[in-house]
Amino acid sequence: MSSITATANFIPVAQVSDFQNGTMKAFRADKRQVLVALVDGKFYAADNKCPHLGGNLSLGKLEGTVVTCPLHGSQFDLIDGRVIRWTFWAGFKAKANQMFRPLRPLRVYPVKVEGDNILVGI
Ligand code: FES
Repeated sequence: MSSITATANFIPVAQVSDFQNGTMKAFRADKRQVLVALVDGKFYAADNKCPHLGGNLSLGKLEGTVVTCPLHGSQFDLIDGRVIRWTFWAGFKAKANQMFRPLRPLRVYPVKVEGDNILVGI
C-alpha cells in the first residue's frame, strides 16, 4: 500500500503504470483505504473496506467490474457500488445476517487520470 498527499478534492493515489488490465490494489488516501481497479482500460475507485464487516476487498477477486469480498463472499459492482450478492450465506444464516447487518452498497468515488497519475475524488 502506498501513500500520497492530498491536493484539492481529487487526491492522487496511484500511478497508471502500477496497473495491468483486470487488476486492483489498495492505497491510502487521507485516512481512508481506497480500492483502485483497472477494467477494460477504465479506472474505478471505491472504499477498500467491505460494507458488510470490513473485509479487505483488495484481497478478494475481481471479475469484470464486480469485486468479491474474501471474507464472506459479498459482491459489489465498482461502477455504482450496488450489491450483487450480500454474503455467500444461505437459509437461516442469511436471514439472520440481513436482520443484524442489512444490505449496504459499496461507496464508490470518481476517478480522473492526469498523465501517469490516478486521482480519486474523495
Ligand atoms: S466482510 Fe465482506 S462479506 Fe463479510
